[in-house]
Amino acid sequence: MNILLLGSGGREAAIAWKLSQSPRTVKLYIAPGNGGTGRFGENVPGLSPLDFDAVRDFVEKQAIDLLIVGNEDPLVAGIVDYFRAAGSNLPIVGPETAGAALEGSKDFAKRFMERHGIPTARYRSFTADTLTDGYAFLETLTPPYVLKADGLAAGKGVLIIDNLEEARKALAEMLGGMFGKSSATVVIEEFLSGIECSVFVLTDGHGNYRILPVAKDYKRIGEGDTGLNTGGMGAVSPVVFADDEFMKKVEERIVRPTVDGLIADGIDYRGFIFLGLINVGGEPMVIEYNVRMGDPETEVVMLRLDSDLVDLAEAAARGDLSGVEARIDPRAAVTVMAVSGGYPESYPKGKEITGELDPVDSILFHAGTKIDADGRLVTSGGRVIAVSSYGRDVADALARSYASLQGLKFDGMYFRRDIGRDLLALENK
Ligand code: AMP
Ligand code: GLY
Repeated sequence: MNILLLGSGGREAAIAWKLSQSPRTVKLYIAPGNGGTGRFGENVPGLSPLDFDAVRDFVEKQAIDLLIVGNEDPLVAGIVDYFRAAGSNLPIVGPETAGAALEGSKDFAKRFMERHGIPTARYRSFTADTLTDGYAFLETLTPPYVLKADGLAAGKGVLIIDNLEEARKALAEMLGGMFGKSSATVVIEEFLSGIECSVFVLTDGHGNYRILPVAKDYKRIGEGDTGLNTGGMGAVSPVVFADDEFMKKVEERIVRPTVDGLIADGIDYRGFIFLGLINVGGEPMVIEYNVRMGDPETEVVMLRLDSDLVDLAEAAARGDLSGVEARIDPRAAVTVMAVSGGYPESYPKGKEITGELDPVDSILFHAGTKIDADGRLVTSGGRVIAVSSYGRDVADALARSYASLQGLKFDGMYFRRDIGRDLLALENK
């Protein structure tokens, strides 16, 4: 079959790698793709995922049989609704806007969880009109205070503040437009303390779902989880505390009520649900929903998914996953992100990437790379290459990624040397 994958990050590189292994993939296009995805299929650099007319044109001309939407922006902007309104029944992996609101509006997501009894932090939402109620609600909480812009804010819309006076000030600033329209509504919630993990579910809109390997990502730029938040500096799978007992709770209290809740609310959700969870003393609670796979979690989830992704994706998009398994590879997988110096603040682009780009022990999923006019591979983003490896266990896989990183070079290259270390410490307890 002919497949079109939308996106250009490490996540899409990993999805493309996995799709390219299927005997069912005849032709794979990645739009726009990056400097590494061309190994797994054909890049379509001129096609923007947000230009729905152009995407539909491409789908028709190239006789695309399956569309997979990698990132959230086209979903929240309504790409699925657009195809349906045009009378197309093209199988698409990704929800309509009604479902994409689980990521596009934190207030919607919180109301969804409340309605369906899904464990999450206590919260209330406020607008400029209810600012004084917001101040009063802050008084009822103990610090730190968690303030979230309702809408998409490129991962920057969550503030965690230790002191009440600053939290009041931040609330006023957010409602005053700190994140533009995204913070016209602000969710204030109780702070939860625990270790986070990411659970990925593929669902078909008809109550069937498959749970993919659990991963943990490392969001801060600095070692020991310090410094600014990033898109993600690395990931590992499996996650030691996400054992059978924990996952049974996740499935019963969170996955099933989410899938059933979507149906009860009349939302036809065919695609990936990303559950950002926190383990609060052994009890899983939801921090956030995303309506796509995680990045860099996908770079380890795809390594550990033993089943054919085309079978799974097509079945979900067609609305019937019942006959398709998601087998998990027993090996561990990790990824360590090589990033541009300066990231997540400003950083240079166009730095040539040299060294061993096809190491025996690792798979390099490109993120912010491109081939320049002279045919050189250069950096084009903050997160540059996700160095991903299998191993007997997490420690073994980490050793392989770190060895492969020694062979990779670009000006200003930085990576965290402590990916997975917190989980290894738990294992050794
Ligand atoms: P979100 O965009 O909702 O995932 O929030 C970004 C990050 O803020 C999360 O990954 C958590 O590390 C942190 N966070 C969000 N909500 C809470 C909460 N209620 N308690 C503790 N930490 C939180
Ligand atoms: N790694 C977190 C995310 O993709 O949102």
